[in-house]
Amino acid sequence: MVIQSKVAVIERPGAELIWLQERFLELKQELKAVIVAHNYQRPEVQDIADFVGDSLELARRCAEVKAETIVFCGVHFMAETAAILNPTSTVLLAHPTAGCPMADMIDVDALREWKEKYPRATVVAYVNTTAAVKAESDICCTSANGIKVVESVPNDKILFIPDKHLGHYISTRTNKKMILYPGYCITHVRLTAEQVKLAKQHYPQAKVFVHPECQEEVIELADAALSTSQIIRYAKESPATTFLIGTEEGILHRLRKENPGKTFYLLSNSLICPNMKKTRLETVIETMELKRNRITIPEEIRLKAKQALDLMLAVV
Ligand code: 13P
Ligand code: SF4
Repeated sequence: MVIQSKVAVIERPGAELIWLQERFLELKQELKAVIVAHNYQRPEVQDIADFVGDSLELARRCAEVKAETIVFCGVHFMAETAAILNPTSTVLLAHPTAGCPMADMIDVDALREWKEKYPRATVVAYVNTTAAVKAESDICCTSANGIKVVESVPNDKILFIPDKHLGHYISTRTNKKMILYPGYCITHVRLTAEQVKLAKQHYPQAKVFVHPECQEEVIELADAALSTSQIIRYAKESPATTFLIGTEEGILHRLRKENPGKTFYLLSNSLICPNMKKTRLETVIETMELKRNRITIPEEIRLKAKQALDLMLAVV
């Protein structure tokens, strides 16, 4: 690794972290870079980012930002979204193999088959999809705006891809006929209704906030199903002091940092997204040193995918 040799010559105790932070700042200036991070990233990564948020906030921020380079600390589909919306910046994904298994559950061929089966349905694609799949879709949504996006569609029949749990949740809040593609998040489905019931028995006063990628029976037991940034906002605004959280553990960093007087428990120890955890401070620096993992999208696909994303961004 490029940075190892330099770190090795530093002998002061604790100097490695200081050197990493200094090197990071040098590279940030050199690349005229803006660093963005998802709410699930490791604390050390969130702390060096210029902006931390949910998928929708990150999409909006990356669309507007004026920077030569965007270093994206998250997973591949999020960095692709940044590159689709902001073709003038170079977008580097901080870790080369940070993907989203849910996004990989549907490809263009599978989507075309489903479209042939349901030719009259409007395709609403969760942003957790590849650029090529977005390009074949009518409109995108995130967990923060899914209900509003689906309501905005002037068609009663929706083909929702790829998350069946988010799709089901939206179907319970709208009057649309929703056909659900059978994808799911391998991390969120680990949370069971039994775990939620047990935690609620222990902390009966606690507010329960979960992500809509959770299973239906989990969502039914919660006070609200929210995007990651909505969880942070609701927790801040709530008069409650104890919260049970049903989403990836990286969210605890902001929740605890921004609400020092409140207590947050994760509903399950298995709520860890291995892909989100691949990025470390060293990974970010190495990516910047090597200018590696540049996201490139064929222009024809980018323009079609951008249409679906722009329609989403116009909704809220
Ligand atoms: P948010 O848009 O709520 O941050 O969620 C993204 C995600 O991948 C959840 O697993
Ligand atoms: Fe994908 Fe689930 Fe990880 Fe989110 S938590 S990035 S949906 S695998």
